[in-house]
Amino acid sequence: MTTAAAELPPLTPEEAGHSDRLAERIRTVIAAEGGWIDFARYMNLALYEPGLGYYSAGARKFGAAGDFITAPEAAPVFSRCLAVQCAQVLQELGAGAVLLELGAGSGAMAATLLAELERRGQLPAEYWILDLSADLRERQRATLAVAVPRLLERVRWLDHLPDEPWVGMIVANEVLDAFPVERFAIRGGDVHAVGVASDFGRLQLAEVRANAALRAAVSRIEADLGARLPDDYESEVNPDLGPWLAALADTLERGVLLFVDYGLPRREYYSPERTRGTLLCHFRHRFHDDALSRVGLQDITAWVDFTAVAEAAEACGLEVAGYTTQAHFLIGCGLGEFVADVSELDVVERINLSRQAMMLTLPGEMGERFKVIALAKGFDAPLRGFAVRDLRRTL
Ligand SMILES: C[S@@+](CC[C@H](N)C(=O)[O-])C[C@H]1O[C@@H](n2cnc3c(N)ncnc32)[C@H](O)[C@@H]1O
Repeated sequence: MTTAAAELPPLTPEEAGHSDRLAERIRTVIAAEGGWIDFARYMNLALYEPGLGYYSAGARKFGAAGDFITAPEAAPVFSRCLAVQCAQVLQELGAGAVLLELGAGSGAMAATLLAELERRGQLPAEYWILDLSADLRERQRATLAVAVPRLLERVRWLDHLPDEPWVGMIVANEVLDAFPVERFAIRGGDVHAVGVASDFGRLQLAEVRANAALRAAVSRIEADLGARLPDDYESEVNPDLGPWLAALADTLERGVLLFVDYGLPRREYYSPERTRGTLLCHFRHRFHDDALSRVGLQDITAWVDFTAVAEAAEACGLEVAGYTTQAHFLIGCGLGEFVADVSELDVVERINLSRQAMMLTLPGEMGERFKVIALAKGFDAPLRGFAVRDLRRTL
């Protein structure tokens, strides 16, 4: 259920000033680029403009005092289960294998993953973190310094992907949904690009006829659906996914990539009933769809088309090694055993653990909305997290 704009919490004068500065910056870009920018360009500026964007400036973002809560923040047992899958892959890959986390947020997942891998005697040779947001780096370091100070020396922050090929595993939770997307609308049987213009100093959505790349993307969707999308249908595509995955595949000599995110196979993502797409903004735990308001102060996300992830993976030589719901993945990784092993927990901790498990697995919560996809390069062993239910045929 989305929140009406009037019901969103008011901004402080500092917040309003910050947002005005970013909006002004975006208006300057729009003017310099001929009066209109596509939505992916807008989203890039809103989220990642240095010093001003939502992920590049000081907004609190994660946790109860922020705008949204992710599984690693709310439920450490999520990262403990993930560690079980990482341990299996690291063991298969042998000594020297590295774990790379993309978009590590507050560092909560890294802290629990490292602690659990240590407990299992399966620490990676190094733990690398690559995040678009330089602002989050200090926060990640602080989280790790408190939670696993003895393991801090294994952690390395990268400015870009390694130049030399390496062996290991890549993990990313809720990173694909933060990618800038292009929005399209079908009007009068034709494909239009929904972008952003400035009208008397106000940012507003504006449509132009789509370019060849966006038309081709919509044609591919329609070919898969076996039907034209109806008039006034609006949705998104992720133009950066293919090149981004190709760059990751290129750097990894041998190993597994694992992405967790909310999303759907293409046929459901672009179902004719979903006429307004999947774009959502997060502000203080409220959801709404006005991506032009509170610019720089709210997260903007879109669901992941997992069929597009599988296609992009295959195009760059990766094999789709598994696809399933978060619930089935966590159960495959031994969630039941973690929940049963309560001998050292007090009553409150036991209740908390059961609450976490329910939040992570119930269909009405995160259990089915979130999916896990594994992509492999030179790695054949069946992955533990996908043993309970394999949904690859739905992609
Ligand atoms: C929604 S947050 C998720 C944070 C964390 N993984 C979690 O689950 O709590 C998205 C994170 O991805 C980062 N990010 C977005 N696009 C990225 C990219 N292409 N490469 C690396 N990090 C990225 C953002 O800076 C942010 O840290």
